[in-house]
Amino acid sequence: MEKDVLILAIESSCDETAAAVVKNGRDVLSNVISSQIELHKLYGGVVPEIASRKHIEKINQVITEALKESDTTLDDLDAIAVTYGPGLVGALLVGVAEAKAISFARNIPLVGVHHIEGHISANYIENKDLEPPFICLVVSGGHTHLVKVADYGTYEILGRTRDDAAGEAFDKVARAIGLGYPGGPKIDRLSKEGNAEAIHFPKAKIADAPYDFSFSGLKSAVLNYLNGCQMKGIEVNRADVAASFQKAVCDVLVEHAMLAVKESGLNKLAIAGGVASNGTLRMAMEQACAENGIRFYRPSPIFCTDNAAMIGAAGYYEYMQGTRSGYDLNAVPNLKLGER
Ligand code: KG4
Ligand code: ZN
Repeated sequence: MEKDVLILAIESSCDETAAAVVKNGRDVLSNVISSQIELHKLYGGVVPEIASRKHIEKINQVITEALKESDTTLDDLDAIAVTYGPGLVGALLVGVAEAKAISFARNIPLVGVHHIEGHISANYIENKDLEPPFICLVVSGGHTHLVKVADYGTYEILGRTRDDAAGEAFDKVARAIGLGYPGGPKIDRLSKEGNAEAIHFPKAKIADAPYDFSFSGLKSAVLNYLNGCQMKGIEVNRADVAASFQKAVCDVLVEHAMLAVKESGLNKLAIAGGVASNGTLRMAMEQACAENGIRFYRPSPIFCTDNAAMIGAAGYYEYMQGTRSGYDLNAVPNLKLGER
């Protein structure tokens, strides 16, 4: 039998300080997440300087807990995987510096991981049978990508957003209807009380780029609708706005994903990123996949939003392919998928 590969993974790209211990890429022994949401709520969004300071405060504690929960010591580790981009530079630097320090002190191999590669790899954790190639729709606060996962670590971006990311649109619309930060989960919840057919919001199509997305027009349409109501003295039904907006986003995501899967001939679709925890999106994708005979994969909500277990999954495949980072590993805030 081959020896188990144990990886300590660290994630600090935005407002979650997280550490996990992952065995053989798919077995999560611990997954500790310290969320800063309560802190950033006060400001209506993530304040980068506050995020970095909080990461520094929490990172040692989170790592200690992840090791303890998994009954692992630093001596047991085969590698340390850390998110080095994309994300907030000051936030990323905390995780990268921590990973380098442990790696240097204990002579443990270091593997820098792309945050989006982590989101995609979250699908490996609970779907032991999932292997590339497959299509993955990545929908997070900063990214909206339709990706062909050709092999472990090999990605082809088929489409991307031209303006706002899907999560960003959720957050902006939530703010406009007074729901506060983070908007995605709040719209998800409120929309259950609303009628998704109440308001018709436009779905942007981009000529000659059937896989690309655009959400800024939809966001403007919501703002125009709210202004129009205010001018006419009509009371806004916030649940209807939330449900109708959410439907417009989900319809476009489903349409584009279905097209990509069909044209690729791959027959397997995964979703990833914070917005992939959205109840309506999960149901709509599941139904569309069932109707089209496509196998559908999605991580549990806890592995959709930022966490370190997904970095451990991605880090494992990078490690097995021989990826090693040096002590010059730096935070790369705008790191592109597939780049090193
Ligand atoms: O992947 P993630 O945790 O962080 C980034 O890498 O950006 O995604 C965060 C985004 C936020 O915009 C948040 O509002 C959105 O994911 N989100 C949701 C839901 N949960 C989180 N959007 C819609 N429905 C949800 N249930
Ligand atoms: Zn993320």
